[in-house]
Amino acid sequence: MAEAMHVLAIDQGTTSTRAIVFDASRRPVATSRREFAQHYPAHGWVEHDAEDIWRDVLSTARDALAQAAVPVRGIGIANQRETVVVWDKATGAPVHRAIVWQDRRTADACATFRTDGAEELVRARTGLLLDPYFSATKLAWILDNVAGARRRAERGEILFGTIDCFLLWRLTGGRVHATDATNAARTLLFDIHRGCWDEDLLRLFRIPAAMLPEVRDNAGSFGETAPGLFGTALPITGMAGDQQAALVGQGCFRPGMVKSTYGTGCFALMNTGTQALPSQHRLLTTIAYRLEGRTAYALEGAIFTAGAAIKWLRDGLGLITHASQTDDMATRVPDHHGVYMVPGFVGLGAPHWDPEARGLICGLTLDATAAHIARAALESVAYQTHDLVQAMAADGGGAPLAIRVDGGMAANDWFCQFLADMLETVVERPAFLETTALGAAVLAGLGSGLYRDAEAAKAGDDLRRFTPRTDDARRRRLLEGWRDALRRTLTKA
Ligand code: G3P
Repeated sequence: MAEAMHVLAIDQGTTSTRAIVFDASRRPVATSRREFAQHYPAHGWVEHDAEDIWRDVLSTARDALAQAAVPVRGIGIANQRETVVVWDKATGAPVHRAIVWQDRRTADACATFRTDGAEELVRARTGLLLDPYFSATKLAWILDNVAGARRRAERGEILFGTIDCFLLWRLTGGRVHATDATNAARTLLFDIHRGCWDEDLLRLFRIPAAMLPEVRDNAGSFGETAPGLFGTALPITGMAGDQQAALVGQGCFRPGMVKSTYGTGCFALMNTGTQALPSQHRLLTTIAYRLEGRTAYALEGAIFTAGAAIKWLRDGLGLITHASQTDDMATRVPDHHGVYMVPGFVGLGAPHWDPEARGLICGLTLDATAAHIARAALESVAYQTHDLVQAMAADGGGAPLAIRVDGGMAANDWFCQFLADMLETVVERPAFLETTALGAAVLAGLGSGLYRDAEAAKAGDDLRRFTPRTDDARRRRLLEGWRDALRRTLTKA
């Protein structure tokens, strides 16, 4: 029988699940996608039913495999990060709905840890901040609020995992309890320098070690699917958190390369190679990937509002009926006409971290039009990316070698050009924008021996390049106006 040359990528995201079969040249040959329910049981709480996620993973994977009708040599998983699942080791049943990364219920707990002076330890070991975004305080919440959970966790009767780990457990029929280094790095429990769970942090957050998964490289053997699931046992050979998977999918294997994904918000990661650079600007230091036992690190910045600002133009203001109209609108006006938007709808993320900041449009005159406001929304996302990239450079990452963009807004040519102008860097956009799934496929390909090494697995050269073409004076003037608008918005000096 001919050797299988395809891989199946599962991209389990915050609002939808995709399964894509790729050929050895990284071309998608079959795709299946499903959205699933979000639960908001209280103000600021966000939950997922892990059974919904499992159902969609199975159905999309089966669908993509059936469409492709080719043998598959490995499965790669990319997933929404930080989201917590706790399940019964004997039955596989979750003991509570998954608590999603966006959930803020442990904000007070984090504030107390900060007041108690724990942030320094957390930063030094994990590269993260004491924020409810990460897993540990959510996990502790489940242990404290589900009857009997803590006692059962201590006895190893219930298990913890992020979504990757839960899916692996289910896919292998409960035989493998493992995660990968990038997902472990988002829990607040993992020492990213030593590459292991940290006993001091487990004590701090009161997490029993017995419930933690084993941590593996991003590519390699994670086990085989239970034979009943897909008709035949398929090896699982790659796994990574979705933003890190996108970094891999974008081929950002060299230090200095940045990928920036524009979804609801924006996540930008700069590969910093073997150096875990501590941030002076409240960026995160995290694991980019671990291959053959060697860890590469990244600086990461998250902007809360990117595509959401365009959605607000459509749903909140009714200025547009489709996001793609903003491209034309921005092109139609010769300049921004003094109009700035600071999209602090849900506060501002890195590097400002101001949860109390709110949105602002300023510089309006009677001849300002809808096009100026649309343009200001697009510009605001580029300015925020500029601030992140500047913080990365100031933290020692240097000027970026290249910025590779993906996600919905990356389809907007005007936005990509403006971004290149503001960053004074070439912005590169791949033709295929599903870079997260592609990254999972690349890792699965590496782990199953389809690719020899990362270099051989790199994305092709099908990149559209946007070269900076503005003059320095205009760039400085625009950025100065942005900083002025920002000053009016920030609640902290
Ligand atoms: O850290 C959260 C991130 O992994 C979520 O990504 O694409 O599922 O919204 P996404």
